[in-house]
Amino acid sequence: MPTQTLNLGLLLLPGYQWLDAAGPVDYINSHSRPMISHLPLAPTVLDKAPIMTWHYISKGLTPIRSTSGPLQQPNCTFDTCPPLDYLVVPGADAFEPLPEGCADFLRKLIVDPTFKALLLVCTGSMSVAQAGILDGLNVCSNKLSLKIAAEKGLLNRKVKWVGDRRWIVDGKVWSAGGVTAGIDLAAEFSRVHFDPQIVAIIGDIMEYEPNPAQPDPFSRILDGVDMA
Ligand SMILES: *[C@@H]1O[C@H](CO)[C@@H](O)[C@H](O)[C@H]1NC(C)=O
Repeated sequence: MPTQTLNLGLLLLPGYQWLDAAGPVDYINSHSRPMISHLPLAPTVLDKAPIMTWHYISKGLTPIRSTSGPLQQPNCTFDTCPPLDYLVVPGADAFEPLPEGCADFLRKLIVDPTFKALLLVCTGSMSVAQAGILDGLNVCSNKLSLKIAAEKGLLNRKVKWVGDRRWIVDGKVWSAGGVTAGIDLAAEFSRVHFDPQIVAIIGDIMEYEPNPAQPDPFSRILDGVDMA
């Protein structure tokens, strides 16, 4: 069986939440060939692990500051990013306009037949919604940010916001609720895409029991908020 090679992107919006990026990226990448090659898995199982190449995407090549952690050096721009299989978008300020060129980048990406899925974490979905590519889709986001947006009259009502789940999948769009829900989304993504034995051993290494989409204890945040 030929080795599966995946090109994954991380969209670096200014001021993005570090855990939104680090959690899902590191969780997913833990299933890659170099990461699991030292584990007690049969060679036939190891052979099923994909090679993952991560690309760090921004408007330019100026390092991007997140909420905490080290500066992240982008290594491609909206114009130079290689073709992607998957793109992870961590949350940033939901009310900031997307950087110049970002909406076009996202619109081209989503219709590319070789592009497989967008993984939106926390307010990443509210930012990406500005490009119009989430219109009509069921999408999760940070619930407190959705509430604030609804109360300020700033909620993008073309999107079917889902307030009672930790994550949801609609077509090519995988989206999570606030911050830590991104790790549950990454765990579900891994369960669906990677070999079950690899997924099981990575679950043990992470010592994490992924939360199901429901019940979602944080759905209370949106009780009584009109999101339709
Ligand atoms: C970005 O850096 C990673 C290594 O951290 C590398 O694998 C990848 O090919 C680089 N992407 C580009 C577009 O240079």
